[in-house]
This record gives sequence, C-alpha cells and structure tokens, in this order.
Amino acid sequence: MLAPSILAADFSRLGDLVTLTEAGGADRVHVDVMDGHFVPNLSMGSVVVKGLRPVTRLPLEVHLMVEAPARFTDGFLKAGADSIIFHLEVMPDPIELIRHVRGHGKKVGLAFNPDYDVKRTEPFLADIDLALCMTVFPGFGGQAYIPESTGRIRELRRLIDRVNPRCELEVDGGIDQRTIGEAAAAGATVFVAGTAVFGDPAGPTAATRELIRLAK
Ligand code: DX5
Ligand code: ZN
Repeated sequence: MLAPSILAADFSRLGDLVTLTEAGGADRVHVDVMDGHFVPNLSMGSVVVKGLRPVTRLPLEVHLMVEAPARFTDGFLKAGADSIIFHLEVMPDPIELIRHVRGHGKKVGLAFNPDYDVKRTEPFLADIDLALCMTVFPGFGGQAYIPESTGRIRELRRLIDRVNPRCELEVDGGIDQRTIGEAAAAGATVFVAGTAVFGDPAGPTAATRELIRLAK
C-alpha cells in the first residue's frame, strides 16, 4: 500500500495533488510533522490535516517527528487524523499514549530511526496497528534509502509475524522506483514516498500507480 508523503508536495496545490495520488491508487495520506527539535526541520501542524480532511476520503496518517507527541495528539485527532504515529526514541514507555489514541477509536503506530535496535519494539507490537521502520534519518524528504534498512525490515517482519501479524510494517524515506521492490521483498507492506510521488515528471497519479506496481 502506498502512503504519499505531502512533505514533498507543492503546498500551493496540496488538495489537488492529494486527489491525484488517490486517482493513482494511494491507500492513505502521510503527514510528516516536524518540530525542529526531534528533527532539525519544522514542517506542518494540525491545520494541514484540518484543511485536507474535507478534500479526501483517504485515511490521514500523522507521523509525529516531535519531542512531545502527547502534547500534539489531541489537536491532530480533532483536526481529523485517522492514525497517529510517534517515535519510540522520545517515548520509551508508549503504552499510555497508545491507549489514549486507541481510546479515541483511532489507529496508532510506533516509529523508530535507523540506529534504533529493532528488537526493542517487540514488547509493544501486540498493542499497535503499525510499526514504522525509518529508512532514512528523519527530517527532510529527498534523502537516499539507507541500505542496511533491508536487513532491519526483515528482522521486524519476523517479529511482527510472531507477535502480531495484524500489525502493518511501514517504511519511510528514500522509497522510490529503485528501492521499493527491495523493501517489499524484505517484508514491508506500507510505503511512504514523498519525492518519488510528487517529484516525478510523470505526475503524482502515474508515479503512484508505478510504485504500487513495483511493490507487488
Ligand atoms: C522524514 C520524512 C521523509 C518523507 C519521505 O524525513 O518522513 O522521509 O516522509 O521523503 P522521501 O520519500 O522524499 O524520501
Ligand atoms: Zn514520515
């Protein structure tokens, strides 16, 4: 399943571009939220989810790359987010926030960076809907897929299959027509792509369609 990241989109045409990815078969919209502390970049707030909500039926998936995810969660849920993903690096004990998001009837995911030991996710996999294995160090779109990610995806796939097969395995960062096949073969099932979707001269509909084809 493809989750276009709007971080790479032309914000003067955001709604139209999201509609174009939907036409290409996108499964959800990935909203990259950065606070300038957990990552060195500042991106967007819940006002963007509020703006997109009436434009698309696709689920809005919010990736909180922020130091204090609990502070922002309710604002994004009120704005219409369907799922909240936050980082284990800043929330070693995520159970309370997991329960809070689930309590609102929304999906919850845990993300972790390329230098975070995949094994440390095991205690939480049974409680979440999605595990996000970052394939770049977060902060900016357009970075290159870190090759060691493929082995990490395989390790996470084994853990998920054993602990909670319902949990989605998502990857994010440098996913394009050259890397998506490798990530899929290693066991990823949801693919975040920003530059490969919104930077493709063929346009977001064709880019989305081609990435989905390559992921199969
Ligand atoms: C973290 C962000 C980016 C973005 C994807 O930096 O999460 O990884 O979604 O960017 P691309 O697809 O352009 O690498
Ligand atoms: Zn992301």
